Amino acid sequence: MEFFNTKISGSGKFNPEKIMTNEDLTKMVDTSDEWIVQRTGIKERRIADLDKGEYPSGMAYYAAKDAIEKAGLEPNDIDMILFSITLPDMLFPSTASQLQDKLGITTHCACLDINAACTGWVYGLTLGNSLIQTGAYKNVLVVGTEMTSAFNNWEDRNSCILFGDGSGAVVLSRAEATEECAIVDSVLSCDSSKADTLILYKGGSKAPITHEVLNNKEQYVTMDGQVVFKNAVKTMAKHCATLLKRNNLTTNDIDWFIPHQANLRIIETTAKLLNYPMEKVICNVEKYANTSSASIPIALTEAINDGRIKRGQTLLFAAFGAGLTSGAVLIKF
Ligand SMILES: CC(C)(COP(=O)(O)OP(=O)(O)OC[C@H]1O[C@@H](n2cnc3c(N)ncnc32)[C@H](O)[C@@H]1OP(=O)(O)O)[C@@H](O)C(=O)NCCC(=O)NCCS
Repeated sequence: MEFFNTKISGSGKFNPEKIMTNEDLTKMVDTSDEWIVQRTGIKERRIADLDKGEYPSGMAYYAAKDAIEKAGLEPNDIDMILFSITLPDMLFPSTASQLQDKLGITTHCACLDINAACTGWVYGLTLGNSLIQTGAYKNVLVVGTEMTSAFNNWEDRNSCILFGDGSGAVVLSRAEATEECAIVDSVLSCDSSKADTLILYKGGSKAPITHEVLNNKEQYVTMDGQVVFKNAVKTMAKHCATLLKRNNLTTNDIDWFIPHQANLRIIETTAKLLNYPMEKVICNVEKYANTSSASIPIALTEAINDGRIKRGQTLLFAAFGAGLTSGAVLIKF
C-alpha cells in the first residue's frame, strides 16, 4: 500500500470584533487587571456576537474560507471537514455539516465533529493526517472553533476571566513526492480519572436543562484551576519530549513551539521544563485569552501571515483540555 505525506496547504482565522478587556470584567466579578495579567498573561479577549451570526459555524466560515483560498483550492475540493468544537451550534446535526452548507460544498464531503475540548484541533490534525497518509482523501479541512462565552459563568471569577471566542482552520493536503512537508508524528492521550476538574455537568442527555439547573447556574463550566494547571504542564512537556525522542530530535531542531494558548504561566513553565527558549514560542494569549481548540490554529495563522513561520521549518504543537485530554504534533512545514 502506498503512503503519502501530509502538508498544511493553507490556514485561516477569525476573531470577533468585540473586545472585552480585563477592566470590563472588573464590572462583572470581583477581580482586577493586575490579578488577571499576573496569573494568566491575559489582557483582553474577543466575544462572539450572535446578532452578527458569530456562532461556531458562522465564525468558522471565515477561517475556513481563508484557509481554502490560501491552499489555492475551491470549497468543493474538500473531501472531509473535521470540526473541533466543545459547545456546538446545536446538538445535531454536526457543526461540520453546518459549515459545509455555509461554504456551499455540493459534493459528498464527509462531515464530523470532534469533542476533545481544547485538544480537539490537535486530535483533528492527527485524524486528518491518517486519512491523507492512507490515500483515502486528498484535502481535509481541520477546524477549531469555540464560543466559550456560551458556557462561561460570568459570575465565577475563577474561570470566566480565562476564556475567549474565535476560530482557526487549516487545509491538510496530500504532499507531492518532491515536497518535504509532512505531519511527522503525533501523540494523543486522555486521563478521565481527572475529568471532574474541568467539566460542564448539566445540559446533556444525562442531566437535561431544568429550571433548577438554570437557577443553580449548572449549565456552565466548573474548574479546579490548580489541578488543570499542573496536569497541563506535565502532559504537554511529556508528549513533546516523547515526540523529540522518538524522532531523534532535540529542542534545537524545533523552529517554533506553538502551545495551546490557555495561560502564559502554563506556556512558560512548559517551555522551561523542555529547556526551550520563550523567544521561539508563538504566544498571543494576551490578546485573545483561551479560545480552546481554536487557539493553536489562530496562533499558527497569525505567525504564518506575519512571516515568522516559513516553509521548511519544524513546528511543534501541544495542547491540553477537558477530559483531561492532551496531545502534541510534530510538523515539517
Ligand atoms: C485559574 C488560575 C489562573 C488561578 O490561579 P492560581 O494561582 O491557581 O490561583 P488560586 O486558584 O490559587 O487562587 C488564589 C486566590 O485568588 C482568588 N481568585 C481566583 N480568581 C480570581 C480572580 N479572577 N480575581 C481575583 N482573585 C481571584 C482565589 O479566590 C484565591 O483567593 P484565596 O487565596 O483568598 O482563596 C490558574 O489555576 C490556572 O490558570 N489554571 C489553569 C486553568 C486553565 O487553563 N483552564 C483551561 C484549560 S483548557
